[in-house]
Amino acid sequence: MKRSVRAVYPGSFDPITNGHIYIAERAAAIFDDMRVSILVNPHKSYTFSVEDRYEMASEALSHLPNVTVDHFMGLLVDYMRQQEAQVIIRGLRAMSDFEYEFQMALMNRQIAPEIETFFIITDANYSYLSSSAIRDIFQFGGAVQDVVPPGVFRRLRERFPARSPKTERDSGT
Ligand code: PNS
Repeated sequence: MKRSVRAVYPGSFDPITNGHIYIAERAAAIFDDMRVSILVNPHKSYTFSVEDRYEMASEALSHLPNVTVDHFMGLLVDYMRQQEAQVIIRGLRAMSDFEYEFQMALMNRQIAPEIETFFIITDANYSYLSSSAIRDIFQFGGAVQDVVPPGVFRRLRERFPARSPKTERDSGT
């Protein structure tokens, strides 16, 4: 009998980027069932509310039928057990990610040895991309529309109206 494997791709997704979407697409091609799970940490301040992060991720991933978006609080491994998920998905961009990811994977294995962390290498085009870089670039007027889905670009403009870069449609007015 074939065993179905449920994977969780956890993160802050503040906001989701094309780099995250790339990792989710590759993972969705491997695992039967996937949750993209947004961390809600009451001790951390986010640019976007959990509702906004949830909506942006849901819109951006709606083309993947075996992916659902969810949110969680507390320890990831507790959430994994509650969801009966076996695999944690994480994206790796550069060597600089490795140390943090390695430590996190070992910590998670220490507390939940039955859960595996599965790393997916990003697309070379997205190796420089991060949610924080996107927020910074956008706030200082830089163009980010090629590296985020349209729903994220729209919400960035709503969130930082004074700093919105001009689009082609706006220019010349
Ligand atoms: O997108 P991020 O911010 O790099 O994601 C980090 C995340 C959400 C995967 C990580 O902070 C996490 O799992 N937090 C939940 C708390 C937890 O389980 N911590 C122990 C892991 S060391």
